[in-house]
Amino acid sequence: MKRLVVYAPIPAPLLERLRQQFEVSCFDHIDGSNWSAFASAVQSAHGLLGTGVQIGRELLAPARDLQAIATITVGYDTFDVDYLTERGIVLSNTPDVLTDTTADAIFALILASARRVVELAEYVKAGDWLRNIGPAQYGVNVHSKTLGILGMGRIGQAVARRGRLGFGMDLLYYNRSPAPRAEAELGARRVSLDVLLAESDFVCVVLPLSASTEKLMGAREFALMKPGAIFINGARGRIVDEKALIEALRTGVIHAAGLDVFEHEPLAVDSPLLAMKNVVAVPHIGSATHETRFDMAQLAVDNLIAALSGKPQHVVNPKALGVGRQRRDDQ
Ligand code: DGY
Repeated sequence: MKRLVVYAPIPAPLLERLRQQFEVSCFDHIDGSNWSAFASAVQSAHGLLGTGVQIGRELLAPARDLQAIATITVGYDTFDVDYLTERGIVLSNTPDVLTDTTADAIFALILASARRVVELAEYVKAGDWLRNIGPAQYGVNVHSKTLGILGMGRIGQAVARRGRLGFGMDLLYYNRSPAPRAEAELGARRVSLDVLLAESDFVCVVLPLSASTEKLMGAREFALMKPGAIFINGARGRIVDEKALIEALRTGVIHAAGLDVFEHEPLAVDSPLLAMKNVVAVPHIGSATHETRFDMAQLAVDNLIAALSGKPQHVVNPKALGVGRQRRDDQ
């Protein structure tokens, strides 16, 4: 029987499905207290399934039987993909099932930041609502403004649809390749990063983290934004130079920020971001609904079973398939 390591909590019926076909070791969370037990289970595993752990070379080097990893995420920046490919280890992810849920969460951040929903809800709870509100509590409009989207993949396009069809926004986007459908159906315009930053009222990051996007948003980029603009990050914290963001917010270079992701997660309780009224910070909730997290776990289970039975799907590193075949032929 092939051996699996599941390193995130997954719904019981899905775990049961795996247990019917594989010998499964489960870890609900990984930290310093169980890292060596986790590493030794990985060493003899044929498949891994989970999320939230950096899976590096050092951990995988002794895992000579490892054939497949299914991450319960769409992003795969916690893996060294080149190394997996070299080793013929197939990595699969969970696209599509989280697209609309994540776009909803990003829109929640846009609305909450513009209309100061969190700050003003706290104001009411604190008993500060003693007379009619005035300009000191006013927000800014979302509808009919310009929404600039960095990254026009599936989630970027779902954000664009909400902005255009729900809120009558003009759309700018910055992406490696054109998105003809978003241009034809939503009137989105592909522009350079600098033009997007200079012309958008909302700058929304939905790019994957990679060597070319790490710290893409720094002091220079924030300075290019309109002083009244709002910055939203629904992708990965490391796409932003967090110190530069804090400074831009502190000095009024930008108006506000809605952040689902941070350079280090969980965000440190003494982060200056948490003391800023113009920041809405949430704990990486993009895909976190009961329905979508179930669908993601189910897709990851399907992906792992498919990969271990030789019919991989949602493969991030297709070149690994050739390497894996060669490796098995040589054995
Ligand atoms: C994803 O699926 O990549 C989400 O950001 C959760 O990590």
